[in-house]
Formats: sequence, C-alpha cells, structure tokens
Amino acid sequence: MDKIVIHGGHRLRGEVVIHGAKNAALLIQCAALLSDKPSAIRHLPKLSDIATMGSLLEHLGCEVEGDRTMNIDPTRVAEGSLEAPYDMVKTMRASVTVMGPLLARYGHCRVSLPGGCAIGARPIDQHLKGLEALGAKITLRHGYVDLKARRLKGGSFMFDTVTVGGTQNVMMAATLAKGTSRLENVAREPEVEELARVLVKMGAQITGAGSSVIEIEGVDELMGFDHAVVPDRIEAGTFAVAAAITRGDVLLLDAPVDHMHATIAKLEEAGAVCHVESDGLRVVGPERLEPVDISTRPYPGFATDMQAQMMVLAACAHGQSLITETIFENRFMHVPELNRMGADITVQGHAAVVRGGSRLTGAEVMATDLRASASLVLAGLVASGKTEIRRVYHLDRGYEAIEKRLRGLGANVRRYHRAKG
Ligand code: EPZ
Repeated sequence: MDKIVIHGGHRLRGEVVIHGAKNAALLIQCAALLSDKPSAIRHLPKLSDIATMGSLLEHLGCEVEGDRTMNIDPTRVAEGSLEAPYDMVKTMRASVTVMGPLLARYGHCRVSLPGGCAIGARPIDQHLKGLEALGAKITLRHGYVDLKARRLKGGSFMFDTVTVGGTQNVMMAATLAKGTSRLENVAREPEVEELARVLVKMGAQITGAGSSVIEIEGVDELMGFDHAVVPDRIEAGTFAVAAAITRGDVLLLDAPVDHMHATIAKLEEAGAVCHVESDGLRVVGPERLEPVDISTRPYPGFATDMQAQMMVLAACAHGQSLITETIFENRFMHVPELNRMGADITVQGHAAVVRGGSRLTGAEVMATDLRASASLVLAGLVASGKTEIRRVYHLDRGYEAIEKRLRGLGANVRRYHRAKG
C-alpha cells in the first residue's frame, strides 16, 4: 500500500486548479442511466470513486470510456443484470443511487444494502421510503433490496431527515414517474442543484432544486446529456485550509466561491484573508490563527466534509475551539491520530474540544476515511519533522494527485508506492 511522507514547515504559495466535484460527478454518472441515449461528462476528477462508479455502470450493461471526459452509452442496459452487487456497493456506498434511475427507467433493480462505513451507520431508509411514495414495491432479503414498479407514479414525500443521496435518488426516480411529485425537507446542497441542472438538460421538468421543496413533473423519456461538472467546494476548502495554516498565499483557480460561504466565514473568523478574484479564491494565512467554534449542518451550514480539515486549523490556533459534528455519529476518527501528532483534542459525544497553540510534530499515522486522511495531510504540512501517512487509498477517493499539487505550492511531500505495511 502507498504511503505519503511530508516534511512540514513550508509556507504554501502559488496557484492550484480545483477539479470537478466528486460528489456531483458520481450522481451525474447515475443520471446517465435514465436515458437510453449516450451521455458525456466533462471536467471529471481522476479519482478511484469515479472509476468505481464507471465499473458499476459497465456491470449494468453500459459502455463506458474515458476518465477526464467520460462517455457513457446505456443502450444495452436492458440486457444487463440490473443488480448492484455487494462487493461494489461495499466499496462505494454512493452505488445505491443507481436505484432511482434503474427503477424509473426499467421498472426493477436489485441493490445490495450498503452496510455501515467508518463514519457511521448511514442507513438508506429515507431513500426507500421516498421510492415507496412513488409506488415502488420493495423487498429486503439476503442483504439486498429488490425494487419493482411497472411505472412509478407521482407522489408527495416529506423526508424525516435531510439526506443528500436520498434527495437525489428520489428526485431522479420522479423524473420518469407518471404525474407530479412534491418532495419536502430535501437537501439543499449544490450537488443537488447540479444534478437537477443535468436532469433538466435531459428534458426533465424540475423546480425548486436548492430550496427545501422540489417539484417534478414526470415525463415519458429523457435524452442524453453533455455536461461539465462544477468545481469541488470541498477540495477547494481543503486547499484553503492548507494556505491558512501554513501562513501561505494561494490562489484556488475556479474555486466555486458561491458554494463556500460557510467555510470562508470560518477561515476569516480564524484570521485568514479570503479575496474573491475573477478566476477563483485567493487565501492568505495569518501569522497568528484565532480559535473558531464550528457546528456542522446541512447546506448552507458548515459542511461536515470540512470538519476534519478545520480541526487541524483549530489545533494550530491560539485558544480553545469547540467543534460539533451533527451529521454523522462517528466522524472524529482523525482525532486520535492528530493527538499522536501533538494536538490536544478531547471528544465528548458529538463534540470535540480543541485546545490549540501546541506545535504539532511529525509522526507515523494511519488514514481511516477520506476527509480524516485529508486532515492528516494538512497536519503534516505544519508539523515539525516528518509525517508518514499510510492507507492513502482513502485519500485517492477524493483528491486527485494531491501530493503533486501540494508540491507545486512549495510543500515537501512525496508518495512512496507499494510501501511495506
Ligand atoms: C453525501 O453522502 C456525501 N457523499 C458525503 O460526502 C457527505 O458527507 C454527506 O452527503 C453529507 O453532506 C456523496 O455525495 C457521494 P446523507 P450521503 O444521506 O448522501 C442519515 C465525502 O467525504 N441518513 O446526506 O450518504 C445519514 O446516516 C462524503 O465526500 C438516514 O438516516 O449523506 C447521515 O447521518 C462522506 N437515512 C445523514 O442522514 C437515510 O436514508 C446525512 O446523510 C439517508 C441518510
């Protein structure tokens, strides 16, 4: 397994291009299943999750080629096995969002239940209740969910909890239902709006995406699409934190500033200076970082996917910060590793008390999930001495060539392939 080695203490300077948003791209890949016409997705990040979704689409009968631009031809899906198998779904839980498109387009599918993951149980009860509201007949057995519907019919559904994937799954299914659907208490994330933009390009009739109520007028068929994915607000936020904690000065080219208000507000509260430029966001780190209290919330609140990264900033700040994780039940896996690097963080339930000001020191650490591994990279950038991060495959799920891009900003970072252990 690869490892990344960082020698900390370098200020980051220069500019870095922000790639397409992973969490938008994955759902747009699923949307291609709603049509029997070919589609093209551009500006894709070269990430293992995107490749995994491509493999699932191939398993379902699509012809898939390309990486930065992915061409998907679903013409032969009907002949395929409309099943998302366990070994694929357990690798990437976003696979469950093929349910809505397959059910709407082909009237049946069988998808493995995803099971939990490092950050929580992550059930899909809301996905299933929403699809049932559109007329799906659902059977759970042998770890799989079987869904059937001769033709979905428009319905109303109020989500019990705000769920990004649940909103996207049910919204996609409703586009081909017969009649009007009204979804309430939906997620307002930019990735929901981006998916709705693609569905409308395909001929879907959708209003309200980005608000807490979405209405969909079902149509009989949808066309293919050609779409360039919006830049990744979480990748941009991660690089912004890297600039802020290293007293750097970095221009994040193409950063989606409009989707980053909560992150920018917290960076500025900590003392960083964020300039919105014509081609992106420039972040200048202060000589002294101030503590910040953060509570993760559904969009437009502070993103849970930025929590681990901001915890490193809090560890570097002069004072105490309180970080509360309200979305997932186990998203503090980075804390023990950061404490091994000299941070002083105490977890009490859903809250972490971060006593900042201590100088982090390099150590051998282990990545556990995608954003936790990003926080270990950030910590390595500011720690004195050498940090070795193992199990970097977690990182490769969400950050394309991060070591090369950080090196381009002046960091001392190297990746070692097939390291023992
Ligand atoms: C999406 O996951 C993102 N993944 C996650 O990003 C992100 O952390 C999350 O949204 C929240 O913003 C993708 O878009 C591929 P949820 P998703 O359904 O859709 C509970 C990353 O690091 N819930 O909004 O799976 C659930 O347990 C990843 O890029 C139910 O109870 O998240 C969680 O506590 C990690 N029942 C909360 O809702 C359901 O049926 C939010 O989950 C569905 C969800």
